[in-house]
Amino acid sequence: MIKQAIIPLAGLGTRLLPLTTVIPKELLPINGKPGLEYILDECIEAGIKEVILIISNKKKMIRSYFQNDLFYKKIIKEKKDKRISNEYKKILKYKKIIKFVYQNKPLGTGDAVLKTKKFIKDNFFLMLLPDDLIIRNNCSKEMISVHKKYKSSVMASMNVDKKTVSRWGIFKIRKKLNNSNFLIDNVIEKPSVKKAPSNKAVIGRYILPKEIFKKLNKQKKGKGGEIHITDAIQKLILDKKKFIGHNFAGKYLDCGTMNGYIKSTIRISKK
Ligand code: UTP
Repeated sequence: MIKQAIIPLAGLGTRLLPLTTVIPKELLPINGKPGLEYILDECIEAGIKEVILIISNKKKMIRSYFQNDLFYKKIIKEKKDKRISNEYKKILKYKKIIKFVYQNKPLGTGDAVLKTKKFIKDNFFLMLLPDDLIIRNNCSKEMISVHKKYKSSVMASMNVDKKTVSRWGIFKIRKKLNNSNFLIDNVIEKPSVKKAPSNKAVIGRYILPKEIFKKLNKQKKGKGGEIHITDAIQKLILDKKKFIGHNFAGKYLDCGTMNGYIKSTIRISKK
């Protein structure tokens, strides 16, 4: 059973400047609630019992968002407003399951994951990248059932336009297991159109094995001078660890670029 999830949130969010000069992108509202709450709701609905948020000193506002008890208690006492007490109850529900770890230098997603090493208890854990919202179907829930069925690591995947492969991690299929599950042969971070082994892109939901930490300990910087989680995954695949690409059923919304963020807010408000 997958009980723990980790969410890297320590990046700079430069693609959403100027909004992210003071507000962490994960707290930017999407139809009245921070993007991060959609991700936490997905975890809770998928049966996750503990969520580790990787933040940085610059993004302490995320911690304050979930730990502002005194503020709420005072307001509720003064105002006796049902809506506010319901909102506080919701925040308390999140607070109960979250834990914070720090990555103060944004060296890459792989380095962020490494910071959670001593907190991971089971052999497998879920990782969610909050820029990637998936609506209509709970992607984490789907991934957990794929993990149960194949007893393997899983990465969420989606077919993308060949011309855009250099934006994503792209994998090569070793074997098609059925219409939505593929055994992965290798994965490359942001390949050129020429070097891309397919048009199957990795999206921000992963079920990773604990062994990933051994690879991350030794992982060198890759594309763009960052330590990428996909490079450590590729090392595990070379060690014959089973990874499955799962084409999820829901609708993917990109919230990490300005254009994507604007479109996603419009899309969700129409839901
Ligand atoms: P991205 O590289 O896509 O986003 O990281 P970013 O760095 O936040 O934003 P840009 O590229 O400057 O616009 C994907 C996820 O991994 C986290 C980010 O916070 C984001 O949620 N991340 C990235 C870390 O936690 N640490 C890092 O060193 C890098």
